Amino acid sequence: MMEKYMYLLIIILSVCGIFGIASHSPVALDVLLDALERLEYRGYDSAGVAYLDDGLSVTKRSGDIAHLRETLSGVDDRFRFGIAHTRWSTHGPPTDVNAHPHTDAAGRVAVVHNGIVENHDSLRRDLRATGVEFTSETDSEVVPHLLARHLDRGLGPREAFAEMVGRLHGSYAICALVEGCDELLVARRESPLAIGMDDATHYVASDVPALLEHTRDVAYLRDGQRAAVSPGRYRAWEAGGEAVSLDTDTIEWTVEQTEKGGFQHFLLKEIDEQPEVIRRALRDRVTADGALTLEQVNVDPKPDVVHLVGSGTSYHACLYGAYLFRKMGLSAFAHRASEYGTVAPPVTEGDKELVVGVSQSGETADILSALDRANEHGRPTLVLTNVLGSTAIRKADNAYMIQAGPEVSVAATKTFTADLVALNLLAEYFTTQNHRRLLQTFSALPAWIRDTIDDSDAPALAERYVDADAVFYLGHGLGRPIALEGALKLKEISYKHSEGFGAGELKHGPLALLTDNTPVFALLTGDAVQTGRIRQNVSEAAARGVPLIAVVPDDISPPAECDHVLTLPDVPPSVEPILANVHLQLFAYHVADRLGRSVDRPRHLAKSVTVQ
Ligand code: AGP
Repeated sequence: MMEKYMYLLIIILSVCGIFGIASHSPVALDVLLDALERLEYRGYDSAGVAYLDDGLSVTKRSGDIAHLRETLSGVDDRFRFGIAHTRWSTHGPPTDVNAHPHTDAAGRVAVVHNGIVENHDSLRRDLRATGVEFTSETDSEVVPHLLARHLDRGLGPREAFAEMVGRLHGSYAICALVEGCDELLVARRESPLAIGMDDATHYVASDVPALLEHTRDVAYLRDGQRAAVSPGRYRAWEAGGEAVSLDTDTIEWTVEQTEKGGFQHFLLKEIDEQPEVIRRALRDRVTADGALTLEQVNVDPKPDVVHLVGSGTSYHACLYGAYLFRKMGLSAFAHRASEYGTVAPPVTEGDKELVVGVSQSGETADILSALDRANEHGRPTLVLTNVLGSTAIRKADNAYMIQAGPEVSVAATKTFTADLVALNLLAEYFTTQNHRRLLQTFSALPAWIRDTIDDSDAPALAERYVDADAVFYLGHGLGRPIALEGALKLKEISYKHSEGFGAGELKHGPLALLTDNTPVFALLTGDAVQTGRIRQNVSEAAARGVPLIAVVPDDISPPAECDHVLTLPDVPPSVEPILANVHLQLFAYHVADRLGRSVDRPRHLAKSVTVQ
């Protein structure tokens, strides 16, 4: 209790970014603010910090981290224990009061939280009945009040924290400060939380970019685990109280990889990195004598039915993968992760099935529940992800690391390309013995991408069509997921209406949307039959007077009706869509930039969506 401890409890909660520091010697506020900037892609509608100096100091503001930094300019406090939070709203709008950290009524406790407390209504009712008054509309605010109540009962901080966590339903990564207690108290369930370690200081963070400038040694808390983190050490235990020792990973990403390196935006830098991403993606997958090796993926037996599951851009990668797998003779289906749980996928007795979760972050809630569902049904699972230590890796039987390096911009670019490369390699690995042709093609891909980036006319087209009412994208076969992805990229970063369609679908409704101010991109990729069909669809669009932009390999002639042409080098049909996508990424980027949008952090979005 309070006589025994002056409890200062700060809990940080939501799809958000959390950071905490337990330092041997006093640190300045910049440590918290700099870490928040590295987590800003996780949420950026409000932010806050709390730290212990003479007492508990809490500052939180709606708006981005720059706004919080401005508010705190001139504050020269030093402290050894601090927590910080950048929010993506789930309950309650992004206001000062709804920002984290949240505190108890007496201001003795502060907490940050990422996730959703599903039983917050009933907890609020219970707490209100004991006289607690709430100041925010968030689900998270129950956490500090609940913690304070257990402290008031005379429990020590760790015990009170354990009691509090035991009452929560839903998902959480929580970090709490308790006055009089030289530890950060943390817990996780279905929201990521890593502990960064160096000799004198320990850290807590939602993701490794916030840790890289301090340490490379990281331990990941698992679902249900809790920990007490103090300067230079931590103790972790299971929900039942048994002590547990966590594995330490060494992170290979560098600080430079998480910085802009001279580019105006992370998005443009990440588009530009794609040639290197492919080289890296191939490096560990090809033996010294030039053969494909995916033994570390460890899928045995090889499947004859593949279910690919993903969300957003990752779902588009699944569509591409399903089409590719089917072309190579495997039965394959793409599922939106958010719907995978709604209707069970078909099962055929005797089939060797594999469920492949595709998730850049490895933390998307819908993907995690899809993997749970696959596990419940006893299906073998593989996850394609970019983030070492992510929850999806632990849930899946096997992991395929796409090795794209940190992707900071909320809109996925290089990780989509890395997914497409990985899916090509997997399709080959599952279906053929001789991979040399594919490997030859892919070893040339980085140079083709470089040329496409450097020579694309997409920036000029962006200037020409920046005021378009809407933009449409048509693709067929492997080009269809690229059309969908082109539209997603444009809408999420420019806020301009855009839609992608299978080219043959145009006449079944979307034609009604076309005007002389709705440019249409037509992807003439694939074999002659496919491009022949798209030509027909292009004519249908042209007859409605739309501006037409053809994306065409340079060995075939563009449709006569086209107003503009974006060319692709003469490459095998399976990689044409990868190059076409680069043009569309650049178009989306330059439209968004011309419109002055927040390119790396589009409104209302977050990098990883850890709520359903
Ligand atoms: C892509 O630009 C978006 N940020 C979004 O659609 C994203 O692909 C989706 O939320 C899935 O994320 P994941 O790959 O981390 O699971």
